[in-house]
Amino acid sequence: TSFALSKPFTESLITWFKPSYIVTHCNFFSLQHNAKVAVLGASGGIGQPLSLLLKNSPLVSELSLYDIAHTPGVAADLSHIETRATVTGYVGADQLGDALKGCEVVVIPAGVPRKPGMTRDDLFNTNATIVATLADACARHCPQAMICIISNPVNSTIPITSEVMKKHGVYNPNRVFGVTTLDIVRANTFVAELKGLDPARVNVPVVGGHAGKTIIPLISRCTPKVEFPADQLSALTGRIQEAGTEVVKAKAGAGSATLSMAYAGARFTFSLLDAMNGKEGVVECAFVRSEETECKYYSTPLLLGKNGIEKNLGLGKLSVFEEKLVAEAMDELKGSIKKGEDFVANMK
Ligand SMILES: NC(=O)c1ccc[n+]([C@@H]2O[C@H](COP(=O)([O-])OP(=O)(O)OC[C@H]3O[C@@H](n4cnc5c(N)ncnc54)[C@H](O)[C@@H]3O)[C@@H](O)[C@H]2O)c1
Ligand SMILES: *[C@@H]1O[C@H](CO)[C@@H](O)[C@H](O)[C@H]1NC(C)=O
Ligand SMILES: *[C@@H]1O[C@H](CO)[C@@H](O)[C@H](O)[C@H]1NC(C)=O
Repeated sequence: TSFALSKPFTESLITWFKPSYIVTHCNFFSLQHNAKVAVLGASGGIGQPLSLLLKNSPLVSELSLYDIAHTPGVAADLSHIETRATVTGYVGADQLGDALKGCEVVVIPAGVPRKPGMTRDDLFNTNATIVATLADACARHCPQAMICIISNPVNSTIPITSEVMKKHGVYNPNRVFGVTTLDIVRANTFVAELKGLDPARVNVPVVGGHAGKTIIPLISRCTPKVEFPADQLSALTGRIQEAGTEVVKAKAGAGSATLSMAYAGARFTFSLLDAMNGKEGVVECAFVRSEETECKYYSTPLLLGKNGIEKNLGLGKLSVFEEKLVAEAMDELKGSIKKGEDFVANMK
């Protein structure tokens, strides 16, 4: 006796057992439903609302909250929210390792605000030391995780994180991000305001660094296409670059942007998780190790994928106005990058 398998049946067998199909679908279930995300500095002005937004997302199954104070309370509070993510609070250096074990994404908004008598250098050194300590713990306990740094100065904390990971031999430049999303969020909002558009549908790439003149919104590449007379374009660019000051002034001594930053940090994290889950065409700008300009670290649009940066999309075509801004920012940015690298080189 003999029988032949019908063609459609064999074809469907091949489809079902094609390795790529199985891999895609296993990832779909295992990653999408098991993303463990840590927030380091979770009790702070940014940390708390950021943790709330992450707890609210179906992309997160475990939320690990670390700080040097108050995390048990923040975690207990968030844990009553009727979403799937389990929330655990870790407090103090002894618990940092446990907070990081098994994490796929680590978001870092830790810092110490200026205290009376602190010099500019003191201010730099405190956050730099905190970020170096936290990066060191990531290198030991979750070397494969995506690390998203919010702590300022981002222009130096990304070089610091990279150098610390290098010291441990676990540096992967595709997995270390300086979160500049707030600059993009502000640019989208301000352009939408001026043009009467829905801000959710506006997208302005922002390149360069993450402070003052180094923040370079590419209005010429906005979607949908928008045009402004020269004076308005220059005022809009200035407003995006100094938007942080608007918030600091309005808060009158009670801190800087926290709620909009939490939104921006969550937006970046969700994009990354989507891309890690296999979603295609996810693009975000971030400050990363870069070969796109003469600056060693630079923010440009990045195509994200399962392993972090899949492709750096580069600066692309710039207007004459934007080319000038890029050129003017270069030397200043290089200085702050060197400052971050020197900081790690001089650590014992
Ligand atoms: N990337 C951006 O666009 C952007 C925007 C706004 C603010 N920031 C930066 O984000 C950081 C946090 O700002 P914030 O307003 O939430 O400050 P915050 O002072 O309210 O919170 C910082 C938190 O970090 C915690 N912390 C201090 N030392 C720590 C350590 N060693 N380990 C873990 N946690 C530690 C503090 O206890 C506090 O809860 C700052 O560096 C700020 O400059 C970045
Ligand atoms: C360090 O972090 C604090 C918030 O904790 C922030 O207010 C301060 O501006 C940061 N320092 C620098 C140098 O950016
Ligand atoms: C780096 O960032 C800090 C604050 O975030 C800023 O004061 C400094 O001017 C920046 N340097 C450069 C070169 O952008």
